[in-house]
Amino acid sequence: MEALHYILVLVSVLLLLYQLTVPKRVERKNKLPRPPSLPIIGHFLYIKMLFKLPLHEVLNDLCNKYGPLFLLHLGSRQVLVLSTRADIEECFSKNDIIFSNRPLLPSRKGLEYNFTGLGAPYGHHWRNLRRFFAVEVFSPKRLQMSSNIRTEEIRHMTKYLFKRSSQGVVTVELSSFLYMLDFNVIMKMVAGNRCFEENEIDTDRGRDKLAELKQWFSPFEPLALGDYFPFLRWLTRHGAEKKIHNKHKKRDAFLQAMLDGHQNLNKTPSVSSGGSQTDQSIIDVMLKLKEFEPQFYIDEVMKGNMAAMLIAGTHTTVLTMQAAILQLMSNPENLRKARDEIDKVVGQSRLLNEEDLPNLPFLHCIINETLRLDVVSTLPPRESSEDCSIGGYHIPHGTQLMVNIYSLHRDPELWTEPNKFMPERFQEIEKEKGGFKFVPFGFGRRICPGSTLANRLVALSLGTLIQCFEWEEAETDEKSQDVAKHKLMKMIFRPREALTHVLAQL
Ligand code: HEM
Repeated sequence: MEALHYILVLVSVLLLLYQLTVPKRVERKNKLPRPPSLPIIGHFLYIKMLFKLPLHEVLNDLCNKYGPLFLLHLGSRQVLVLSTRADIEECFSKNDIIFSNRPLLPSRKGLEYNFTGLGAPYGHHWRNLRRFFAVEVFSPKRLQMSSNIRTEEIRHMTKYLFKRSSQGVVTVELSSFLYMLDFNVIMKMVAGNRCFEENEIDTDRGRDKLAELKQWFSPFEPLALGDYFPFLRWLTRHGAEKKIHNKHKKRDAFLQAMLDGHQNLNKTPSVSSGGSQTDQSIIDVMLKLKEFEPQFYIDEVMKGNMAAMLIAGTHTTVLTMQAAILQLMSNPENLRKARDEIDKVVGQSRLLNEEDLPNLPFLHCIINETLRLDVVSTLPPRESSEDCSIGGYHIPHGTQLMVNIYSLHRDPELWTEPNKFMPERFQEIEKEKGGFKFVPFGFGRRICPGSTLANRLVALSLGTLIQCFEWEEAETDEKSQDVAKHKLMKMIFRPREALTHVLAQL
C-alpha cells in the first residue's frame, strides 16, 4: 500500500513537471497528424529505433503511416517533419525568416561559444558572421585566391598514390584517405598549414591524429536527454553533457593554440603570418579585420568561425566523394564516360585544374546525382521564432523543423526511376534547380554558404582521381552492398598508363 502511495506521488510530480515544462502545443482545432505517443516521453521511443535503423528509414516508415507532414513530440520539444515539395516550398516561401533559427540546445552552449558562431540566432550578429563568410571566404575573388591551396593539396595526395604504386603498394583505406585530403585543404585555408604530411598517411600516427580531428570536428553530438526533458538536466550533466564538455575543452585548446600562434607572429614586427594576398589564411584575415572591429572579432567568434569551416567543410565533402566513388564503381559505364570527358577537355599531357571544371558537365552531373541520392537525408534542424501556418495547420513558435530531403529527392512524382543512379538526368534538370526539388545545400537564409567551395573541391578531387587512376575495390573479408557499411572500404588506385609521364613529374 505504501509502495502504491509513493508511485502515485511520483507519477503526479512527473505529470506536473511535464505540464510546466511543455510549451504551448499545436492547436487542436486543426490537428496535425502525429503517431501515437506516450505521456511525458512523447515519441522518444522512435529515437530508440534510430539505433537499429537509419533516420531516413524511420521517417519513411512514419510518412507511409501518417502522411508526409506530421508532428513528433520529443519530451518538451515538438518537431514538425516536412517531406513534400509543396509543403517545403510553402514553408520556405512564406516563413523563411521565422524558420531561420537553429534550436539552441542547452548541452551545446559551451561547445558553440554561447551561440556566438554560425549557430547563432537569426539577427544582427548572425548576419555579420554570414557577411564575413560571403565576402572573406566564399566570394568568387577569395575562392580564386584559395584555388592554389586545393590544387596543391590534391596534387600532394595524387603524388602519394603514385609513389606508393611504384613501390608496389597500391591499397588505400578510402575514407581515411579522403578525410586526410579534406582536412589538409580546409586547414590550409583556415590556418595556412596542412594537417597530414606524406609520411603520416596510412601510418598509425596519422590514423590516431585523424581519429582525434574527426572527433573534435564531428557535426554529431551524443543525445543529451536534458535538452528534451529539462527536469532531467541535473542527470545528463554527468553523462552526455560531460562528454560534450570534454570535447569542447580539447577542441577549444587546439583552436586557441592555432589562433595564438598567428597572433604572436603578427605581433613580431619583422615576421608576418599574413603572407601575400593569395596565401592569406582565414585566421590572418580575421586578425586584420580585428584591428578595425575589435568588439566583433573576439577570440570566441574567431574560434567559432574556424570550427565552422572544419566541421561543415570536411565531413560533407568526404561523404560526397566517397559516395560518388562507390556509385561509379557500381556503374562503370558512367566512370568511363566521365574519364572520356576529362581526356577530351584536358588531354593527357597535364593534370586537371579548377579552370577546366566549367567544361566538364558530366562530372558535375555525377556529383549532383550523388548529392541527390546519398549525402544529406535531413536538413540540420531549424526552429520557429513565431507562430505561423503550413499546409493549413497552425504551428506555434519554438517548433523544430525537420526537412526530409531523402523523401523529396526520391519522390516518384518528381523523379523518373528515383532510386536509380542516372547522372544524365541533371543535363535536363539543371534548369529547374531552384524549384525546391533538388536542395542538397538547403534553402533560404540559412542555405549552405560553402556550396561553391564544396563543388570545386569535390569536382577537382574526384576528377583528378578519375583522370589519373584505374580503380578497383581491394579484397576484404566482409562484402556489403550497403553504402554506409563501406566506411572502411579499401581501394586500389593504379596509375593510368597514359598519365604516368605526367604523374612522374609531380
Ligand atoms: C558537398 C558538400 C556540402 C553539403 C552537401 C552541404 C550541405 C549543407 C546543408 C544542407 C546545410 C544546412 C542548410 C539549411 O539549413 O538550409 C549546410 C550549412 C552550412 N554549411 Fe554546408 N555543405 C557542404 C559543404 C560545405 C563546405 C565545404 C563548407 C565550408 C567550408 C560549408 C559550410 C556550411 C556552414 C558554415 C553552414 C551553416 C550555415 C548557417 O547555419 O548559417 N558547407 N551545408
